[in-house]
Amino acid sequence: MKNIEHAFNHQKVLIVGGAGFVGSNLTHELLSTSPHVKVHIIDNLLSAERVNIPSDPRVSFTEGSIADKEVVEKLQDEYTYIFHLATYHGNQSSIHNPLADHQNNTLTTLMLFEKIKNFNFLKKVVYSGAGCTIAEKTFEETHASKEIDRVSLDMDSPYSISKIIGEFYSKYYAKQHGSPIVRARFQNVYGPREILGAGQWRGTPATIWRNVIPSFIYRSLKQEALPLENEGKASRDFIYVKDIALGLIHCALYGTAGEAYNLASGHEITISAVAEMINKLTGNETAVQYLPKRPWDNSGRRFGCPEKSFKELGFKTQTTFEEGIRLTLQWTQAHLDLIETTVAKHADKMG
Ligand SMILES: NC(=O)c1ccc[n+]([C@@H]2O[C@H](COP(=O)([O-])OP(=O)(O)OC[C@H]3O[C@@H](n4cnc5c(N)ncnc54)[C@H](O)[C@@H]3O)[C@@H](O)[C@H]2O)c1
Repeated sequence: MKNIEHAFNHQKVLIVGGAGFVGSNLTHELLSTSPHVKVHIIDNLLSAERVNIPSDPRVSFTEGSIADKEVVEKLQDEYTYIFHLATYHGNQSSIHNPLADHQNNTLTTLMLFEKIKNFNFLKKVVYSGAGCTIAEKTFEETHASKEIDRVSLDMDSPYSISKIIGEFYSKYYAKQHGSPIVRARFQNVYGPREILGAGQWRGTPATIWRNVIPSFIYRSLKQEALPLENEGKASRDFIYVKDIALGLIHCALYGTAGEAYNLASGHEITISAVAEMINKLTGNETAVQYLPKRPWDNSGRRFGCPEKSFKELGFKTQTTFEEGIRLTLQWTQAHLDLIETTVAKHADKMG
């Protein structure tokens, strides 16, 4: 890994979607490694809680949508780095409401890129892409997705469609307008500050349950049965959130405009292995609950190839899966009151 200490000192950084899970961890990483950085967050708190924004004089916050003309037009040409992390979270919400996804996951990207295309001080813009848009759709043995893999037209959700459109626009604005946009292609992120139920109700229980790891940890701590769809045969490449923050920083400092970089551990882990590990750590002896495969989810087995990021950015994940899970469990135990509150606020919608 390259040394990133002080790299953002005296720089003004914009994080769109900075109150979210990844954005808040990135903010903390920037503040701790570059004590003289200034961070401006724009976020409409659609899937985030205000508590994730550090109260720190170096951080300013605009509550609003980057797809809102009034918000985007106020952006000044003063940033050297921009991280675009806003999304309509996540697959199931987007299937439930594709127009809301379009508004918060596609228009957001277009309006931001259109606004900043003539900014003069930008050194790098990092777009957060998703590995699920590239991965082969299979439950059989698979290969580590590479940046050069082809994109299928067969996407599982409006979320995935928006994420790949974001990559199209990233490349287009880099080529046509010389915008210094780099695409960071995430595998599955987990870790502290992913708050179950964060933000506003988005039409389905996935508003609460978000991703598999925080849901399993919460249920396992309550000694509940962990739900395993399709026998937990699907696999993912889980990357600890501090590593994603470091990867984003490496993309910003060392990425080449127009290029994509996987942020991946390179390790494939099945969902049933994740359930087993978490139940062991919490001492949960309740048997797992087998459920059918989610009809829309065909991504099956997937993981990412970290070679290009290592070669070209000097980026490599630092936290093993076992260590990351242990840290996430500790964070969850310490923040159970907060999580109970954000889960409970949607109780009336759950029926
Ligand atoms: N977490 C993962 O496993 C993962 C995997 C692949 C890609 N990504 C991408 O990483 C980025 C961050 O994801 P996350 O897990 O932190 O999700 P998140 O939901 O916690 O963060 C997204 C943030 O965007 C904000 N937002 C939504 N609409 C907005 C708008 N119109 N204007 C401004 N802000 C808006 C939300 O309130 C939230 O704070 C997303 O772009 C996501 O697609 C995440």
